[in-house]
Amino acid sequence: MKVLVIGNGGREHALAWKLAQGERVSQVYVAPGNGGTARDSRLTNIAITDVKALADFAIEQKVSLTVVGPEAYLAAGVVDEFRARGLRIFGPTKAAAQLESSKAFAKDFMKRHNIPTAAYEVFSDVAAAHAYVDAQGVPIVIKADGLAAGKGVVVAMTLAEAHEAIDWILEDNKLGVVHNEGVARVVIEQFLQGEEASFIVLCDGKNVVSLATSQDHKRLKDGDEGPNTGGMGAYSPAPVVTPNVHAKAMHEIIMPTIQGMARDGIPFTGFLYAGLMIDAQGQPHTVEFNTRMGDPETQPIMMRLKSDLLEVLLHATDGTLDQVELQWDRRVALGVVMAASGYPLSPRKGDAISGLPADAEDHMVFHAGTAEVDGQLQTSGGRVLCVTALGESVRKAQALAYESLVNIQFEGKQYRQDIGYRAVKR
Ligand code: AMP
Ligand code: GLY
Repeated sequence: MKVLVIGNGGREHALAWKLAQGERVSQVYVAPGNGGTARDSRLTNIAITDVKALADFAIEQKVSLTVVGPEAYLAAGVVDEFRARGLRIFGPTKAAAQLESSKAFAKDFMKRHNIPTAAYEVFSDVAAAHAYVDAQGVPIVIKADGLAAGKGVVVAMTLAEAHEAIDWILEDNKLGVVHNEGVARVVIEQFLQGEEASFIVLCDGKNVVSLATSQDHKRLKDGDEGPNTGGMGAYSPAPVVTPNVHAKAMHEIIMPTIQGMARDGIPFTGFLYAGLMIDAQGQPHTVEFNTRMGDPETQPIMMRLKSDLLEVLLHATDGTLDQVELQWDRRVALGVVMAASGYPLSPRKGDAISGLPADAEDHMVFHAGTAEVDGQLQTSGGRVLCVTALGESVRKAQALAYESLVNIQFEGKQYRQDIGYRAVKR
């Protein structure tokens, strides 16, 4: 069977790498892919990014299954387009993807269905938003309503930061948000305290299978300092998700969401990612929904997955996920992201990359912002690589990941030295 993965990040490299190991897989296309997927002899990059052209390609090449990585394609309706043309694709429809593409939709949905999340209000009026912040005080969280490539959230510790963020979103659009219905809207919500974890499941519209748990590191600098990024490293499993927290997340967040979406007439199919904030009492709250796999969470999760991903996704697109039980490597997987100079605000591109280690059973370099130019590997985006390793403990996985990256060179490379520190401390 031929498979198509849409996207060009580390997440898509990991998905394609895993799919290529499938027993019945003859060909994996990645559209458009990156320098890493270009170098892997089992993967083929195709230079198509337009949704209709992707569907044409899938028909011409008799692609059996398409998997979507990035949220932008989902919000653009790639799943609706493929399905309308009789193609098998795993992901949510445009309507269901609103759980991620509209924070206002997601918050209203959670309120309606009693799903634990931070208290909030939605504003499009600037003066009203400023007045609300003054009345609530800080810390407070300011979120743009539309998609903003992970940059649409400001956790304001001072009133000045909160007011500035409102102006950025409602007046100048400095965060580059894609506004829904052309209207700038801001969600202002209560600051939640606790430890975050990524809780990702597969849904076929009705049945749910949870993936191994993971934890991301959103801030640029060690000790969770510096600006928010798309994610600077991740590991799996996340010990903060105890069996008790897991059960609560399933019963109070995931199942009510899947059932609520079905009841609202927009059944959810695809990866559903609940960003959890787990408080000191072990109660998970929903920080956000993503309607796709996480990046970089996918990289460690795929290294631990033992089941054949193609077979799992065929069940997911047939509505028979109740027949699936996933098998996991019991080792810990940990991935360290190496980012370009200037990331996240203005990443530098075009620097030569050298010193990549050979991939092995227990360590892999997944590529994200890389491109092959005349046979030379170069940086081409903010997050460049995710060096991922397996180990018997967090410490061992961490040690191997950091050992694997010592010789990797590119101008101005940035990476955190402390990926996995919360699990090491436990
Ligand atoms: P989001 O894009 O909604 O995931 O937000 C990005 C990051 O901002 C999250 O991973 C959290 O670290 C932080 N954040 C978002 N909402 C809240 C909240 N209500 N309380 C505390 N931190 C938050
Ligand atoms: N790593 C966070 C995300 O994928 O949204």
